[in-house]
Amino acid sequence: MNIAILGQNFGDEGKGAAVHHLCSTFDFGIRTSGGNNAGHTIYYNGKKLIRHLVPSVDFSLPNIKAFLGSGMVINPTDLLKEVQDIETTFPGAAKRIYVDPDAFVIFQHHLDQDKENVVNLGSTGRGITPAYIDKTARRGTKLEQLIKDNTKEIQELKKLGVQFKYVMELKEELKKSKIIFEAAQSVMLDLNLGLFPYVTSGDATIASIYSSGFGFVAPQKIYGVAKAFSSRVAVGPFPTEFANKDFTDNLREVAKEYGSTTGRPRRLGAFDCPMVKYAAHKGNITNLIITKLDCLTHLGEVPVCIGYEKEPVSAKDFFDAKPVYQTLKPWKDGKDISQVEHFISTIEKYTGLPVSYISAGTSPEDFINYPQAKWNMKLRNKSN
Ligand code: IMP
Repeated sequence: MNIAILGQNFGDEGKGAAVHHLCSTFDFGIRTSGGNNAGHTIYYNGKKLIRHLVPSVDFSLPNIKAFLGSGMVINPTDLLKEVQDIETTFPGAAKRIYVDPDAFVIFQHHLDQDKENVVNLGSTGRGITPAYIDKTARRGTKLEQLIKDNTKEIQELKKLGVQFKYVMELKEELKKSKIIFEAAQSVMLDLNLGLFPYVTSGDATIASIYSSGFGFVAPQKIYGVAKAFSSRVAVGPFPTEFANKDFTDNLREVAKEYGSTTGRPRRLGAFDCPMVKYAAHKGNITNLIITKLDCLTHLGEVPVCIGYEKEPVSAKDFFDAKPVYQTLKPWKDGKDISQVEHFISTIEKYTGLPVSYISAGTSPEDFINYPQAKWNMKLRNKSN
């Protein structure tokens, strides 16, 4: 079965980690939207690695392949740097990286044009909006032109082993493969479905899987990733944002909540059931993955937003939402499993979605199938 991993809130939920942990039974990891505005953090042998463009598959698996689809906007200089980094950790992996020549190119002038969006809209400054503007205006450049011109970056990427292939050229192989699709950003940052104008300029749901030509191998199951709390970078509505600065600062340090692309401190808030429920509906998500449960072990109590005074039916309802909270008992370690279970069942009750996986740390054994797997995690008390 092919699956997709989407973000439920405002990005940074742990999509990269989810793909990294789940990919061992898959043949291909595929991304179909966004560019290096994304920053997907994964840990390999305790070392932190960040993927901005290449799907977060675990290249230590000998056969897994990664594909960058045509819906992406790609800065060739940054792609080269990222592939070089991957080669350093996983020699030979570049040969298993495929890039669709139909993907759109981000040039330096796009980065220059993005500067005002950084100020006005909190953009990452990676040229995403100007590149998508050029694409929708039907001007600009696709990678195939750079391949034809045999630019320095293309030569270097090819030398490392990167393969430029149209989807059609891999059609038969893809049909026989198991695929894990990795979305970038999140439903609430999606250009069409998110909290406009505080969104990115691309698709963040499975729409881009179809528009990148992968409809014939579309996912049968769509998972949404959400942290045990909420976060958002930069400006825009954030209904459950914590008002207490010390509380926020403390949680930010414990959970290392700084942007993986820009290093900006993230705004933090309570788990937001109505937002997750709304995003699941918009993104056709049927199952949840809850991450970073270990980061709440220092709290005296765990707030969860179980609804808004008015149920949201459109993006604008999030701009003046009045959250209703429930306060749950905290958990300190694995002995407090009933409190964790209560937290998860509260989420399931108020979002209407089953939780399929949970994670409480960065190593593979901290990411478990829920509730089937036996609980064997040590929830580390990070405040000690
Ligand atoms: P842009 O995609 O760089 O134009 O940024 C638009 C908005 O999306 C800004 O608020 C960014 O902080 C946010 N954003 C874009 N990519 C990510 C991501 O991967 N994680 C979190 N926020 C993101």
